[in-house]
Amino acid sequence: MVLPSAILLPLYLYPTATTPWTNLYNSLSAHPNTQFDVVINPDSGPMLVGPSDKSLSDYIAAVSNLSTYPNANIYGYVHTGYGDASLQPALLSNISRYATWNTYEPANIHLDGIFFDETPNAYDASIYTNFQTATNLARSSKLSKVIFNPGTIADAEYFALADYIIMFEGAYADFDASKIAALSQAVRANSSVVIYGSTLTEADQKTFVSQLVDMGLGSFDITTTDSYATWSALWAAFTQQFSSAVGVK
Ligand SMILES: *[C@@H]1O[C@H](CO)[C@@H](O)[C@H](O)[C@H]1NC(C)=O
Ligand SMILES: *[C@@H]1O[C@H](CO)[C@@H](O)[C@H](O)[C@H]1NC(C)=O
Ligand SMILES: *[C@@H]1O[C@H](CO)[C@@H](O)[C@H](O)[C@H]1NC(C)=O
Repeated sequence: MVLPSAILLPLYLYPTATTPWTNLYNSLSAHPNTQFDVVINPDSGPMLVGPSDKSLSDYIAAVSNLSTYPNANIYGYVHTGYGDASLQPALLSNISRYATWNTYEPANIHLDGIFFDETPNAYDASIYTNFQTATNLARSSKLSKVIFNPGTIADAEYFALADYIIMFEGAYADFDASKIAALSQAVRANSSVVIYGSTLTEADQKTFVSQLVDMGLGSFDITTTDSYATWSALWAAFTQQFSSAVGVK
Protein backbone atom coordinates (compact mmCIF):
# COMPACT_ATOMS: atom_id res chain seq x y z
CA MET A 1 0.00 0.00 0.00
CA VAL A 2 1.25 3.44 -0.90
CA LEU A 3 0.60 5.94 1.86
CA PRO A 4 -0.58 9.49 1.20
CA SER A 5 2.25 11.89 1.45
CA ALA A 6 0.56 15.00 2.71
CA ILE A 7 -2.28 16.98 4.15
CA LEU A 8 -3.24 19.56 1.53
CA LEU A 9 -4.46 22.82 3.03
CA PRO A 10 -5.83 25.66 0.91
CA LEU A 11 -5.16 28.45 3.40
CA TYR A 12 -6.90 31.45 1.90
CA LEU A 13 -6.96 33.16 5.26
CA TYR A 14 -5.30 36.55 5.45
CA PRO A 15 -3.04 36.41 8.51
CA THR A 16 -3.49 39.26 10.94
CA ALA A 17 -2.93 39.65 14.65
CA THR A 18 -6.57 38.73 15.24
CA THR A 19 -6.66 35.84 12.72
CA PRO A 20 -3.21 34.27 12.91
CA TRP A 21 -2.42 30.83 11.53
CA THR A 22 -2.06 29.43 15.05
CA ASN A 23 -4.22 26.35 14.35
CA LEU A 24 -1.78 25.39 11.62
CA TYR A 25 1.35 26.05 13.69
CA ASN A 26 -0.15 23.92 16.48
CA SER A 27 -0.78 21.01 14.10
CA LEU A 28 2.67 21.32 12.52
CA SER A 29 4.30 20.94 15.92
CA ALA A 30 1.89 18.25 17.15
CA HIS A 31 2.57 16.11 14.04
CA PRO A 32 6.20 16.69 13.06
CA ASN A 33 6.30 13.60 10.82
CA THR A 34 3.24 14.57 8.82
CA GLN A 35 3.82 16.65 5.72
CA PHE A 36 1.56 19.64 5.20
CA ASP A 37 1.24 21.20 1.74
CA VAL A 38 -0.04 24.68 2.47
CA VAL A 39 -1.40 26.93 -0.29
CA ILE A 40 -1.24 30.63 0.49
CA ASN A 41 -3.23 33.16 -1.48
CA PRO A 42 -2.38 36.77 -0.67
CA ASP A 43 -4.56 38.33 -3.37
CA SER A 44 -5.76 35.73 -5.92
CA GLY A 45 -2.05 35.49 -6.66
CA PRO A 46 0.81 37.45 -5.14
CA MET A 47 0.08 41.07 -4.35
CA LEU A 48 0.93 43.68 -6.94
CA VAL A 49 3.57 44.99 -4.61
CA GLY A 50 6.90 43.28 -4.01
CA PRO A 51 7.87 41.77 -0.68
CA SER A 52 9.66 44.97 0.26
CA ASP A 53 6.34 46.81 0.33
CA LYS A 54 4.94 47.43 3.80
CA SER A 55 1.47 46.14 2.90
CA LEU A 56 2.91 42.64 2.72
CA SER A 57 4.18 42.74 6.27
CA ASP A 58 1.39 40.51 7.60
CA TYR A 59 2.30 37.85 5.06
CA ILE A 60 6.00 38.23 5.75
CA ALA A 61 5.39 37.67 9.47
CA ALA A 62 3.15 34.65 8.91
CA VAL A 63 5.11 32.97 6.10
CA SER A 64 8.43 33.39 7.85
CA ASN A 65 6.81 31.76 10.86
CA LEU A 66 5.51 28.92 8.71
CA SER A 67 8.96 28.47 7.16
CA THR A 68 10.36 27.46 10.54
CA TYR A 69 8.43 24.17 10.34
CA PRO A 70 10.37 21.61 8.27
CA ASN A 71 7.15 19.63 7.66
CA ALA A 72 5.46 22.52 5.83
CA ASN A 73 5.71 22.94 2.07
CA ILE A 74 4.45 26.33 0.99
CA TYR A 75 2.77 26.92 -2.37
CA GLY A 76 1.81 30.24 -3.92
CA TYR A 77 -1.66 30.42 -5.47
CA VAL A 78 -2.09 31.50 -9.09
CA HIS A 79 -5.33 31.87 -11.03
CA THR A 80 -5.33 30.45 -14.55
CA GLY A 81 -8.94 30.57 -15.78
CA TYR A 82 -8.72 27.01 -17.19
CA GLY A 83 -5.85 27.97 -19.47
CA ASP A 84 -7.33 31.26 -20.69
CA ALA A 85 -4.59 32.43 -23.08
CA SER A 86 -5.28 36.09 -22.34
CA LEU A 87 -4.24 35.42 -18.72
CA GLN A 88 -0.86 33.92 -19.70
CA PRO A 89 1.18 37.17 -19.30
CA ALA A 90 -0.36 37.76 -15.84
CA LEU A 91 0.25 34.12 -14.94
CA LEU A 92 3.95 34.36 -15.82
CA SER A 93 4.22 37.65 -13.98
CA ASN A 94 2.55 36.11 -10.90
CA ILE A 95 5.14 33.32 -10.90
CA SER A 96 8.03 35.77 -11.34
CA ARG A 97 6.67 37.81 -8.45
CA TYR A 98 6.48 34.77 -6.17
CA ALA A 99 10.05 33.95 -7.20
CA THR A 100 11.20 37.23 -5.65
CA TRP A 101 9.99 35.92 -2.27
CA ASN A 102 12.75 33.29 -2.45
CA THR A 103 15.47 35.90 -2.57
CA TYR A 104 13.96 38.28 -0.02
CA GLU A 105 16.76 39.09 2.46
CA PRO A 106 15.14 40.49 5.63
CA ALA A 107 13.10 37.33 6.36
CA ASN A 108 12.79 33.75 5.17
CA ILE A 109 9.58 33.78 3.13
CA HIS A 110 10.68 31.19 0.59
CA LEU A 111 8.04 29.19 -1.23
CA ASP A 112 8.40 25.57 -2.33
CA GLY A 113 6.15 25.69 -5.34
CA ILE A 114 3.12 27.00 -7.21
CA PHE A 115 -0.53 25.98 -6.93
CA PHE A 116 -2.24 26.45 -10.29
CA ASP A 117 -5.97 26.91 -9.70
CA GLU A 118 -8.58 26.18 -12.35
CA THR A 119 -6.45 24.10 -14.70
CA PRO A 120 -8.32 22.30 -17.47
CA ASN A 121 -9.15 18.61 -17.13
CA ALA A 122 -9.19 17.81 -20.85
CA TYR A 123 -5.89 17.69 -22.74
CA ASP A 124 -5.51 20.48 -25.27
CA ALA A 125 -2.21 21.01 -27.10
CA SER A 126 -2.08 24.81 -27.01
CA ILE A 127 -3.25 25.04 -23.39
CA TYR A 128 -0.71 22.38 -22.50
CA THR A 129 2.09 24.40 -24.13
CA ASN A 130 1.13 27.51 -22.15
CA PHE A 131 1.13 25.55 -18.89
CA GLN A 132 4.44 23.98 -19.85
CA THR A 133 5.93 27.47 -20.23
CA ALA A 134 4.49 28.43 -16.83
CA THR A 135 5.65 25.31 -14.98
CA ASN A 136 9.10 25.58 -16.58
CA LEU A 137 9.32 29.16 -15.31
CA ALA A 138 8.27 28.04 -11.83
CA ARG A 139 10.75 25.17 -11.65
CA SER A 140 13.61 27.25 -13.03
CA SER A 141 12.79 29.88 -10.36
CA LYS A 142 13.22 27.32 -7.53
CA LEU A 143 9.44 27.03 -7.17
CA SER A 144 10.00 23.41 -7.94
CA LYS A 145 6.83 21.74 -6.70
CA VAL A 146 3.71 22.04 -8.80
CA ILE A 147 0.06 21.33 -7.98
CA PHE A 148 -2.69 21.59 -10.60
CA ASN A 149 -6.32 22.04 -9.62
CA PRO A 150 -8.85 21.01 -12.25
CA GLY A 151 -11.08 19.89 -9.35
CA THR A 152 -12.19 16.89 -11.37
CA ILE A 153 -10.55 13.87 -13.04
CA ALA A 154 -7.88 15.20 -15.41
CA ASP A 155 -6.25 13.67 -18.44
CA ALA A 156 -2.98 11.91 -17.65
CA GLU A 157 -0.89 14.18 -19.94
CA TYR A 158 -0.94 16.85 -17.25
CA PHE A 159 1.09 14.65 -14.90
CA ALA A 160 4.07 15.51 -17.09
CA LEU A 161 3.72 19.08 -15.75
CA ALA A 162 2.38 18.67 -12.21
CA ASP A 163 3.52 16.64 -9.21
CA TYR A 164 0.00 16.50 -7.86
CA ILE A 165 -3.36 16.97 -9.54
CA ILE A 166 -6.55 17.61 -7.57
CA MET A 167 -8.95 15.06 -9.04
CA PHE A 168 -11.88 16.19 -6.90
CA GLU A 169 -12.63 19.52 -5.30
CA GLY A 170 -16.19 19.84 -4.10
CA ALA A 171 -18.78 19.34 -1.43
CA TYR A 172 -18.74 16.19 0.67
CA ALA A 173 -22.25 15.37 -0.60
CA ASP A 174 -20.92 15.25 -4.18
CA PHE A 175 -17.83 13.13 -3.52
CA ASP A 176 -17.89 9.83 -5.37
CA ALA A 177 -15.12 7.60 -4.01
CA SER A 178 -15.64 5.09 -6.82
CA LYS A 179 -14.34 7.61 -9.39
CA ILE A 180 -11.08 7.95 -7.44
CA ALA A 181 -10.87 4.21 -6.80
CA ALA A 182 -11.15 3.65 -10.56
CA LEU A 183 -7.82 5.46 -11.14
CA SER A 184 -4.72 3.30 -11.24
CA GLN A 185 -2.63 3.13 -8.07
CA ALA A 186 0.20 5.01 -9.82
CA VAL A 187 -2.17 7.86 -10.71
CA ARG A 188 -3.78 7.91 -7.26
CA ALA A 189 -0.34 8.31 -5.66
CA ASN A 190 -0.06 11.72 -7.35
CA SER A 191 -3.72 12.65 -7.01
CA SER A 192 -5.32 14.84 -4.38
CA VAL A 193 -8.83 15.49 -3.22
CA VAL A 194 -10.23 18.55 -1.45
CA ILE A 195 -13.57 18.03 0.22
CA TYR A 196 -15.48 20.89 1.82
CA GLY A 197 -18.83 21.18 3.56
CA SER A 198 -18.36 17.87 5.36
CA THR A 199 -21.19 17.04 7.77
CA LEU A 200 -19.38 14.05 9.24
CA THR A 201 -19.08 13.61 12.98
CA GLU A 202 -15.57 13.36 14.35
CA ALA A 203 -15.87 9.55 14.57
CA ASP A 204 -17.19 9.26 11.01
CA GLN A 205 -14.51 11.61 9.73
CA LYS A 206 -11.93 9.24 11.25
CA THR A 207 -13.35 6.32 9.26
CA PHE A 208 -13.43 8.45 6.09
CA VAL A 209 -9.82 9.58 6.58
CA SER A 210 -8.73 5.93 6.86
CA GLN A 211 -10.66 5.13 3.68
CA LEU A 212 -8.89 7.89 1.75
CA VAL A 213 -5.52 6.86 3.16
CA ASP A 214 -6.15 3.26 2.09
CA MET A 215 -6.83 4.49 -1.46
CA GLY A 216 -3.20 5.63 -1.62
CA LEU A 217 -3.91 9.25 -2.47
CA GLY A 218 -1.05 11.72 -2.74
CA SER A 219 -2.71 14.28 -0.48
CA PHE A 220 -6.11 15.43 0.68
CA ASP A 221 -8.12 17.78 2.83
CA ILE A 222 -11.52 17.49 4.51
CA THR A 223 -13.15 20.56 5.99
CA THR A 224 -16.51 21.17 7.65
CA THR A 225 -16.71 24.68 6.22
CA ASP A 226 -17.57 25.92 2.75
CA SER A 227 -14.79 28.50 2.78
CA TYR A 228 -11.02 28.16 2.74
CA ALA A 229 -10.84 31.38 4.75
CA THR A 230 -12.16 29.70 7.91
CA TRP A 231 -10.94 26.70 9.87
CA SER A 232 -12.69 23.38 9.81
CA ALA A 233 -14.45 22.68 13.11
CA LEU A 234 -12.63 19.32 12.95
CA TRP A 235 -9.22 20.61 11.78
CA ALA A 236 -7.22 19.43 14.80
CA ALA A 237 -9.05 16.09 14.76
CA PHE A 238 -8.37 15.78 11.03
CA THR A 239 -4.62 16.28 11.42
CA GLN A 240 -4.58 13.74 14.27
CA GLN A 241 -6.68 11.22 12.32
CA PHE A 242 -4.53 11.65 9.20
CA SER A 243 -1.31 11.21 11.16
CA SER A 244 -2.46 8.04 12.88
CA ALA A 245 -3.92 6.64 9.65
CA VAL A 246 -0.55 6.99 7.91
CA GLY A 247 1.17 5.53 10.95
CA VAL A 248 3.09 8.52 12.25
CA LYS A 249 2.61 10.50 15.42
C1 LIG B 1 4.41 32.72 15.03
O1 LIG B 1 4.32 31.48 15.74
C2 LIG B 1 4.22 31.62 17.13
C3 LIG B 1 4.31 30.24 17.75
O2 LIG B 1 3.36 29.36 17.21
C4 LIG B 1 2.93 32.37 17.45
O3 LIG B 1 2.82 32.54 18.84
C5 LIG B 1 2.94 33.72 16.75
O4 LIG B 1 1.68 34.38 16.95
C6 LIG B 1 3.16 33.56 15.27
N1 LIG B 1 3.30 34.86 14.62
C7 LIG B 1 2.67 35.15 13.49
C8 LIG B 1 2.90 36.53 12.96
O5 LIG B 1 1.93 34.39 12.93
C1 LIG C 1 -1.46 38.05 -11.06
O1 LIG C 1 -2.46 37.61 -11.97
C2 LIG C 1 -3.68 38.32 -11.91
C3 LIG C 1 -4.65 37.67 -12.88
O2 LIG C 1 -4.95 36.37 -12.44
C4 LIG C 1 -3.44 39.76 -12.26
O3 LIG C 1 -4.63 40.50 -12.11
C5 LIG C 1 -2.37 40.35 -11.32
O4 LIG C 1 -2.06 41.64 -11.75
C6 LIG C 1 -1.12 39.50 -11.37
N1 LIG C 1 -0.15 39.99 -10.36
C7 LIG C 1 1.15 40.05 -10.57
C8 LIG C 1 1.97 40.59 -9.46
O5 LIG C 1 1.65 39.66 -11.60
C1 LIG D 1 4.55 11.83 -8.01
O1 LIG D 1 4.82 12.37 -6.74
C2 LIG D 1 6.15 12.15 -6.31
C3 LIG D 1 6.23 12.65 -4.86
O2 LIG D 1 5.95 14.00 -4.78
C4 LIG D 1 7.09 12.88 -7.23
O3 LIG D 1 8.43 12.66 -6.83
C5 LIG D 1 6.89 12.38 -8.64
O4 LIG D 1 7.65 13.15 -9.53
C6 LIG D 1 5.43 12.49 -9.04
N1 LIG D 1 5.23 11.85 -10.34
C7 LIG D 1 4.57 12.45 -11.31
C8 LIG D 1 4.40 11.63 -12.54
O5 LIG D 1 4.11 13.57 -11.23
